[in-house]
Amino acid sequence: MTQFEGSHILSVNQLDLDAINTIFNVAHKMTPYALREKRTKVLDGAILGNLFFEPSTRTRVSFGCAFNLLGGAVRETVGMGASSLSKGESLYDTARVLSTYSDVIAMRHPDAYSVEEFSKGSRVPVINGGDGSNEHPTQALLDLFTIQKELAHAGRDISGMHIALVGDLKYGRTVHSLSRLLCMYKDIQFTLISPSELAMPDYVIADIEKAGHKITITEQLEGNLNQADILYLTRIQEERFPSQEEANKYRGKFRLNHAIYTQHCKSNTVIMHPLPRDSREAANELDNDLNSHPSLAIFRQADNGLLIRMALFALTLGVENQLEKYECPV
Ligand code: CP
Repeated sequence: MTQFEGSHILSVNQLDLDAINTIFNVAHKMTPYALREKRTKVLDGAILGNLFFEPSTRTRVSFGCAFNLLGGAVRETVGMGASSLSKGESLYDTARVLSTYSDVIAMRHPDAYSVEEFSKGSRVPVINGGDGSNEHPTQALLDLFTIQKELAHAGRDISGMHIALVGDLKYGRTVHSLSRLLCMYKDIQFTLISPSELAMPDYVIADIEKAGHKITITEQLEGNLNQADILYLTRIQEERFPSQEEANKYRGKFRLNHAIYTQHCKSNTVIMHPLPRDSREAANELDNDLNSHPSLAIFRQADNGLLIRMALFALTLGVENQLEKYECPV
């Protein structure tokens, strides 16, 4: 039995390096099932409550597909209007009821700490699929898993790398969670590039400094990328701004395209983005002209999300060593 069985996954703060390595080892074991080379029914009869009260493509669908690929069924609630939360029901009551219908729950909600609040009423493990601008722990795990794999191709480790985080570092929950995971490694150089109004929150910077990592904070993209091993771009999170006009002040401020990459980055800098990227002309922070570049890892990140979420279901439900036992013909 691991520390994960029967536990909620709400924040990266509950993880240490051993826990991360356990998740990554199980994620590697999931590869043949995700690729449909093998099939398992290890979660046959189990139900995932997939509750998404905020828009999502990757996280929602990959949670659902991950559960299906392990043989389980998915019951989905999408949008606040489809839930009695819109009639004033509390998160606690909702959790108390829905956790009787499910074996595990994945949840996204627009309010920070709402998933933790929900988990207090739940009788089954709850996995945070993003709570407002606070955290996105499963995205951070898949990002870290991707960084580890991408750097391994160049014979490099996470410790000692240089990462540039770019864009909306204030409201971008993925960079908050990823930065805290990186605090568990050694000698990382962070370059934080954002408008000063959208800077990384002080509490995340304090964690990075406490871990002994070096930080450069700047508002300039060009001229600050030439040492980066990983370039992690984010979208302006317009849904978190007080108004569209306020968000528009920052959209399009930082753009990466083929010409800028070639001129300002190392030839093998890995390009990452949690997605969605904002492809509208006013924003376009990551141009389509890089789509076939071998260093563009954005779709490999999404692929890895399936493996990480399969691993988290297997671990929280305690079936990570029973995949083979329940194999069936492909
Ligand atoms: N990266 C991410 O969370 O994407 P979605 O909003 O589409 O789930």
